[in-house]
Parts: sequence; C-alpha cells; structure tokens
Amino acid sequence: MNQILKDHFLNRIDVEGLVKKYGSPLYVYDEKTLRERVREVVNLLQYPWFGASCSIKSNSNLYLLQIVREEGMEADAMSAGEVFLLEKAGFDASKVFYVGNNVSAQEMKYVLDRGILVSVDSLSQLELLGRINPGGRVALRFNPGTGAGHHEKVITAGSKTKFGIQEDFIEDAKAIVRKYGLKVVGINQHIGSLYLDAKPFLDSVKALLRIAAQFENLEFVDFGGGFGIPYKKCHREPRLDLKGLAEQLAPLLTGFREQYGKDLMFKVEPGRYPFAECGAILGTVHAVKTNYGTKYAGTDIGFNVLMRPMLYDSYHEIVVFRNNEMLDVQDREKVTIVGNICESGDILARDRLMPPIREGDIIGILDAGAYGYSMSSNYNLRFRPAEVLITMDGDARLIRRRDTFEDLLAGFEC
Ligand code: LLP
Repeated sequence: MNQILKDHFLNRIDVEGLVKKYGSPLYVYDEKTLRERVREVVNLLQYPWFGASCSIKSNSNLYLLQIVREEGMEADAMSAGEVFLLEKAGFDASKVFYVGNNVSAQEMKYVLDRGILVSVDSLSQLELLGRINPGGRVALRFNPGTGAGHHEKVITAGSKTKFGIQEDFIEDAKAIVRKYGLKVVGINQHIGSLYLDAKPFLDSVKALLRIAAQFENLEFVDFGGGFGIPYKKCHREPRLDLKGLAEQLAPLLTGFREQYGKDLMFKVEPGRYPFAECGAILGTVHAVKTNYGTKYAGTDIGFNVLMRPMLYDSYHEIVVFRNNEMLDVQDREKVTIVGNICESGDILARDRLMPPIREGDIIGILDAGAYGYSMSSNYNLRFRPAEVLITMDGDARLIRRRDTFEDLLAGFEC
C-alpha cells in the first residue's frame, strides 16, 4: 500500500465504531496533524515581525479554532458570523482582521464596534467606512493584477475578478482617506486558492510591496493565503515547497523593511493549509449497481456534505474499509462513486480505479478538513454530519453533534 495511505490517521482509528456511535457520514479530524500543519505556517519565517492568520472560512469548528489559537495563529474573518465565532473561540479583537467584500453598513458597524480592523476592497466601501468611522484606522485590499488557483472560481486577483482595488486607483483611494481623515495602517491581498508552485505568490508579494511603498504609515502588509496541499496523494503529487518559498520570501521582506524605515509586520492568511489534511469524511456504501456499463458505488456522502468535487471537479483520494481494515487490493476496477442527493452532478469521483466496493463498506474521503464541513448544507433536508476530533491521546471526542430533525425546524419559530 502507498506509504502515505499506510501512515494516514484513519488507519489508527476504529472507523466502524465511530460511524456506529456518531452516525454516517462523519467528519473526523486528527489533532496531531492539525497542530503540525499550523506550526509549519506559524514558523514559516522566524522573525518577530512575521505572523500567520488563519482564514476560518475553510473550517470554523469552535474547538479546532481554539487549537489554532493556542498554536499562535491570528485569524481573518469575512463575515459578522465569523467575527462572532472567533470571539467565542477566545480570539482577542486585536488578533482578528476583517477582510470584507461588499458588506452592508450594518455589518461594517458590527465589526468596528468590536474594535476589529476592517479591510475594504473598493472605493465605495472605503467611502462607506469613512462615513461610519471618520478618523479611524483602515486596511486596503489591492488586486495585484495576476492571480493563481486550482480553478477559475477561486482565483481572486487579476483582471477577471471582483476583488481588490486596482493599483491605478491608489490616488483616488488616498483622496477618500484624506476626506475622512482615515489612517491606512495595512494593505492586503489574496491572489487565489491552492497553488503548489510558489512563483505566482512571490510575484504577487513583489507587486504588493511596490504598492506598500506608496503608503507612509503602514503597520502591516498581509499577503493572503492560497498555499496548496497535494490532494493527489496516491499519484505522488509533490508538496508545496514551503522551505523554498520561505527562503525566497525572507530577502524580499527584510529588504523592504530596511527601505521602508519603519517597523512593520508581514502576514500570511492560509485557510486550506492548516486544516485540509487533518480532516477526512467517513461514509457508508448503501448500494452498488451498474447502469449502462458504468459501475456506481452509492454512498451517503452527498454534495451537501462535501461540495468541492461538484463545484470545482476537485479530486480527493478515497479509501475503502472492510472489517475495519483499509483495503489494499491489487485488482482494481473502475467505479463512479456518488452520493445520495437528487442531482446527477452528485459525483465524488468518476471512473476511479478502486478495490471492488461492496454494500456495507465504509469509505473515507481524505483531505476534507478545509472547505468541507464549512461549505456543507441541509440540501434535500439531509443532516449535516457530526464532527469528531482524535485528540493527541488518541481519544475520539465529539466536537459538533450531528443535525437533528428539530434543527430542520429551527428557523420556523415565528
Ligand atoms: N484570505 C482571503 C481573503 C480569502 O478569500 C481566502 C479564501 C483565504 C485567505 C484563504 O485561502 P486558502 O489558504 O484557503 O487557499 N472553497 C474553495 C476555496 C475558496 C477560497 C476562498 N478564499 C475550495 O474548496 O477550494
């Protein structure tokens, strides 16, 4: 068996017992893997003026956020809901950075009232912030002109996206800043999600530093997230070379600090990197059939549980358990693995070479810790799964219960 699969945390746990106890499907997270990945980004550069924030849209489980906080990450938030949850997870307002996009005055006020710094990404939102909070502090999100990412839907910089202020409008932004007596204390960007080659990120760092040089009183520059993880583990997809990235990043930042002449912080804000690999989904095969020559394995992992394959054609490794053992079969056959949602696009993997799957098998979808549960829904009125944490001691701890029928009624109390 592929060594990566052999070493996977799912091989150390009682998958059948967990599914029996907490229901199927089930999200399972490994604390050890989470802490390791968080430490990699926190320690990317060993300077006191470098920090990593966690982009919690990728995973907003309260208990996992507490672990991330303990490990020294700050956080970015994109909505009032994320701000609320970060407060509950114990993040101090000074450690939260609100990166807004097309937000209402009411939401902006909610965030500002909590003493949290807001980044705006358009001139009209800068005007809005000026009206709400004249004389206040603000960060500006720029669009450095080129983006990167695993799918066009997640490339968030360049000429084809709604994000950020175009560099050509710096003077217009400065005019609004003057009009309201605002202080630009930070600038930020996020070029997109999941690159495995550092080059586009480093190019965007250079572009953002050129923009930063045009602002005099910055306290920080935030380069965003996007660090990829290898989803195609069985195809030996190489990891993003974080060490190499750090070696190239360091001279750019130290050079800029010297030239800028003021003490300023640099930050990154990854979401996928800390969370993706610590999470997996377990599900059950309820039906196997052949339709017009295609073999289907029908599971309870619909796209309400994991949206990524349906939304972006994303690839996740899938493993099969029988009698609590991960199958390692040389004879493999093509199978299309699907969920239980009433849409034909509800496909986890098309024509995948797998060990022959039977009813009753448990399947595991790997690397589902980021943008898994956080993008799940009750579509078809299916329950969102429970989430379980495998602690450092190897115990399984329930960190979010499965939905109930009552939850489906929660919004109707009017
Ligand atoms: N900062 C900002 C402003 C962002 O919009 C994002 C993600 C991040 C940081 C974190 O990016 P990451 O390090 O996770 O790549 N649902 C998609 C990914 C969408 C990312 C949206 N923005 C997926 O499942 O691939």
